[in-house]
Amino acid sequence: MAIEQTFSIIKPDAVERNLIGDILKMITDSGLRIKGMKMIHMDRAKAEGFYAVHRERPFFGELVDYMISGPVVVSCLEGENAIEKYRALMGATNPADAAPGTIRAAFGQNIQNNACHGSDGPDTARTEVAYFFDKEELVG
Ligand code: PPS
Repeated sequence: MAIEQTFSIIKPDAVERNLIGDILKMITDSGLRIKGMKMIHMDRAKAEGFYAVHRERPFFGELVDYMISGPVVVSCLEGENAIEKYRALMGATNPADAAPGTIRAAFGQNIQNNACHGSDGPDTARTEVAYFFDKEELVG
């Protein structure tokens, strides 16, 4: 199976509730390795750029407001089948639908405050990692 990289955000609701360590433990327990990581507080332009693909969706403004409401932890994760592995670990977008044992089942509150983000495919993963990390920041 191929070694891949994927991009993760621990979202403001989870950072606010002091869940960074719990979520990172689930990530590393899954076998994924952390190649780069930082805590940032996005401004509106950065968040709008990140979610540009959702610009036409009715929740876009609310989602951006939420993502700039507090700090987040962004990371580049690496491992076998990392993109699918991390999506499975996160669980369904809506925590109400997330399987037991997943991050969103454990820590998500609703479809917006759902604790974490992960890339949905190889192209997105590359784009998202590059949107937040310079090459020299990926050292893990
Ligand atoms: S998915 O898995 O990317 O297909 O999920 P999707 O439903 O397309 O949602 C994309 C992101 O938008 C957030 N979202 C919402 N925010 C606020 N209100 C509503 N109703 C809503 N629906 C979806 C959802 O948390 C996803 O965020 P990310 O950061 O991409 O996981």
